[in-house]
Amino acid sequence: MSVISSSIPKAVALLNQEQTIGIPTETVYGLAANIYSSKAVERIFSIKKRPFFNPLIVHIKSATVLSEIARDIPEKANLLAKAFWPGPLTLVLKKQISIPDLVTGGKDTVAIRVPNHPVALALLNQLAYPLAAPSANPFGSLSPTTAIHVADYFEEVLPMVLDGGACQRGIESTIIGFENGEPILYRLGSLAVEDIEAIVGPVKMITHDDIAPAAPGMFSKHYAPSTTTFLTADVTEKLKMFPDQKIGVLVFQKGIDDPKIVQQEILSTTGNLAEAASQLYAALHRLDKCHLDCIIAERFPDVGLGKTINDRLKRATKK
Ligand code: TXA
Ligand code: MG
Repeated sequence: MSVISSSIPKAVALLNQEQTIGIPTETVYGLAANIYSSKAVERIFSIKKRPFFNPLIVHIKSATVLSEIARDIPEKANLLAKAFWPGPLTLVLKKQISIPDLVTGGKDTVAIRVPNHPVALALLNQLAYPLAAPSANPFGSLSPTTAIHVADYFEEVLPMVLDGGACQRGIESTIIGFENGEPILYRLGSLAVEDIEAIVGPVKMITHDDIAPAAPGMFSKHYAPSTTTFLTADVTEKLKMFPDQKIGVLVFQKGIDDPKIVQQEILSTTGNLAEAASQLYAALHRLDKCHLDCIIAERFPDVGLGKTINDRLKRATKK
């Protein structure tokens, strides 16, 4: 029998029994557990093969319970929560002492968001606790955007994947931390930085060297398909370098005509970056299943969600 089910009562029962399950969100699917159950949270780390120092995101039902999780909340954090929750924005804030170290990797900060997905919200509203949930993929591999992706990874070890359809955003949340009350970008994501800056003014970009201590999950190899992947501004030129190979191509808007191409993924024929972002991981999952010699991906315009897509494609090229 499949582990995929759309029964919210069943999900509630399993979580109340301190089990770990797959859940939908609008960004990517998560591996969820009661934040106060060390047994269930430990299971997240062991299923994902994720190091304990890499903290998890706490999913809450509404901003009204934020003060139970975080303290000393900067004014700009409140403005962002008001503007974008529920939604694909994670805020890293000082934690309340009641938040277990296991969830925060021993840090005195905690990452929090309110997911904008009807099934996730219905679930959270029936629970007496928030859910810790990282993306539901093995450490370092491509994030799942459908219940089937999660089952493909974890069918044997999960009692249930709660089905909420294909993720509408398709890329992880944008993560913002604070330094002296000022916002810092920890991870590019489904919410464009320009949209955040429209609410709170300039957001400081963290450099690559700063990122390891600040956001331990941001190793450069992450979000990677198992097929060797290249990123280029000119796919047609790059194709010439592989005369006799089976190639998969991922492009933004316009298809390419070349007999070497075995599988081609066009992310948005209308040139819409939000649509392209929502399709990115599903396209990479499909390409990865085609037994290709390599994937050639086109660089996206470096604005709005194009920045996020380029970030994930760059990481996909790392071996
Ligand atoms: O869209 C998302 O954010 C998805 C869905 C399921 O909500 N979750 C997700 O979780 O992408 P995960 O664990 O794959 O990525 C969380 C990132 C990691 O890079 C982690 O290091 C960072 O958040 N993080 C968590 N707590 C942190 C903290 N206290 N300080 C800095 N970074 C933190
Ligand atoms: Mg992840």
